Amino acid sequence: MSIAYLNGEWNPMGETKISVLDRGFMFGDGVYEVVPVYERKPFTLKEHLARLGRSLAEIKITNPMDELTWVALIEEAIERSDEHDALVYIQVTRGASASREHVWPKQTPATVLVMVYDAPTLSRKDVTPYKMITLDDFRWQKGHIKSVSLVAAGLFKNEAVSRGADDSILIKNGFVTEASASNVYIVKDGVLITPPTSNAILHGITRHLVLSLARGDKISVEEREISVAELDAADEVIISSAGHEVWPVGSVNGAPVGNGEGGVVWQRLDQLFQDYKSAAE
Ligand code: PDD
Repeated sequence: MSIAYLNGEWNPMGETKISVLDRGFMFGDGVYEVVPVYERKPFTLKEHLARLGRSLAEIKITNPMDELTWVALIEEAIERSDEHDALVYIQVTRGASASREHVWPKQTPATVLVMVYDAPTLSRKDVTPYKMITLDDFRWQKGHIKSVSLVAAGLFKNEAVSRGADDSILIKNGFVTEASASNVYIVKDGVLITPPTSNAILHGITRHLVLSLARGDKISVEEREISVAELDAADEVIISSAGHEVWPVGSVNGAPVGNGEGGVVWQRLDQLFQDYKSAAE
């Protein structure tokens, strides 16, 4: 069963309701996190909670809980769900206003939502390389905040799906930023290259782990801008996120990447990731 905690109450996910005046619903005024769960244990939870704290600070919402309380709540959510390998979704909004008013209400408690649900991509049973298209990254200039305002991400993903692809790689001023809900890497001549952290991209928790696993395995890593020409000429293209771990890209705008099946660096990173997971369990 997919379970949800909302402001102190536990209910099945589909029966959990918020006020229409909640600023998350009305204004997209909130932030979120997605944390993987393996063997009923949250993975990289501290890193996700730290980023949640940074996102909240950026939009000036007081963090409603300290780290220990968050950890206890998330562990209880996993305990109450019957999911084994799953995702924990955490959302904090500015809470409900008395009326639809742009000015923030004073002393309104934040809304806290925690849900646990299954994610088919985590099973690693069918890691089919993704077909990607490129799209102009027209999002706002604070991509490092994990904001619930995901209308742009929805437009990118649905444009890809309507063109028979799986997702979009975003291009800003001629350079790759990220994908609609994941970070992007290319491999050229054995070097793993990914855009540097900046306000243009989400500082992915999986990205951080992948880069440290790669460095620990003596894979050359470069954090630098990737031009469209380099994307087109890449030996491999890879994405990473909490839900997808490290995932191969088979084509970009219809042109195959390598043999279209995921390359040797992706295979090695996936192996390192699975080994790290097993050791952490
Ligand atoms: N997406 N970039 C964007 C825009 C994202 O939304 C995400 C995560 C990432 C990868 O970050 P991480 O490795 O910390 O998951 C990069 C989540 C999973 C989502 O929206 O469902």
